[in-house]
Amino acid sequence: MMSDPSQLQLAPNGELRHFLTTEGLSKELLESILTKASGFLDSKGDLIAKVPLLRGKSVVNLFFENSTRTRSTFELAATRLSADILNLDIQRSATSKGETLMDTLWNLEAMHADMFVVRHADSGAAHFIAEHVTPNVAIINAGDGRHAHPTQAMLDMLTIQRHKQGIEGKVVAIVGDILHSRVARSQIHALKTLGAAEVRVVGPATLLPKDIEDLGAKAYYDFSLALRDCDVVIMLRLQKERMQNALLPSESEFFRLYGLTSEKLALAKPDAIVMHPGPINRGVEIESAVADGPQSVILKQVGYGIAVRMAVMAMAMSGQRTNQAGPEAPQ
Ligand code: CP
Repeated sequence: MMSDPSQLQLAPNGELRHFLTTEGLSKELLESILTKASGFLDSKGDLIAKVPLLRGKSVVNLFFENSTRTRSTFELAATRLSADILNLDIQRSATSKGETLMDTLWNLEAMHADMFVVRHADSGAAHFIAEHVTPNVAIINAGDGRHAHPTQAMLDMLTIQRHKQGIEGKVVAIVGDILHSRVARSQIHALKTLGAAEVRVVGPATLLPKDIEDLGAKAYYDFSLALRDCDVVIMLRLQKERMQNALLPSESEFFRLYGLTSEKLALAKPDAIVMHPGPINRGVEIESAVADGPQSVILKQVGYGIAVRMAVMAMAMSGQRTNQAGPEAPQ
C-alpha cells in the first residue's frame, strides 16, 4: 500500500523534503514556497543573480514524457542555484534495453545524485520513486500522468499573486480538458488552500470528472455563465495523448463552445488575466488575439516557473538535511 503523499513529502519538522503534490499541504507551506520564490525575483519580476544554495549538489532531470517548459526551467533553476545538472536522455538510456525504472535510479544514486526531477506518464510514478530511493535523495514531481503537476500549480499561484495582488477572494475558472489534466488537480488543491473564493471547472460533460466537485471546485458546462465575475481564466489544452476514445464531436465544435475568444473574455471582469500552462493550441482552446493580447500572462507564467522551481529545489534539499538529522533536529 502506498504511503500518504502529504506525509511522505514532509520531514519530521514539517519542512518539504520531496514535492509530489499540492494536495494536503498547509497554507503556511504553500505560502512559504511563494515567499521563497518571490525572493528570487526583483521588483520588476526578473530573476536575481545566481545563488550558491545548491553548490556541490547534483540534480538529475528524468523526463520519461516530452516537455519544453518544465524541463528547461528546472535546468535553469538548478543552474541558478549553482547545482550540477544532468539531463538523462531517456531515449538513449539503458531503459530501452529493459532496465527497470528503479535499477536506473539506483545507478544514478550510485553516481551521487541528490535530487531527481521526474516526469512520467504513469500517475503515482513520483510517489513510487520517493518511497524507494535512499532517504537522502529528494524527488520533485514534474508531472505524473493525470495526477499532479505541483510546480506548475505553484508557478500559477505566483502568477496570480503578482498580477492580481493575491489569491484570497479571487474567482478562478479552469477551462477545457479537466479530465486528463494533472495541472487542474494541482491548481484546485492550491487555490482552495490559499483561499480563492471560487474555483470553477468548465467543459463538456465528457471532459469533467464525475467527482471533481469533491475537490471543492464547482462544475460548469456553460462557458459564458462560468466567465461571469472571473478574476482569472485558465485555459487548458486538449490532451489527446491521454484520450482513449473520441470524447468530442470535433475540435471546431469544442472551440465554438469552449474556446477563449476576445468576445468571450469580455464576459469576465475587465481586468481578468488569462493563463495557460502551455503548450497552447491556437484555434483549439484559445484564439491568438487572446493568447497574445494585453490580458494574457502566459509567457510571464513561464518565467515565474524558474523562481518557483528554485524555491522548491532549495526547500527540498534543506528538508532532506533536516530529515537526516532526525526528529530531534532544531525546528
Ligand atoms: N506546462 C508544461 O508542463 O509544459 P511542458 O509539457 O512543456 O513541460
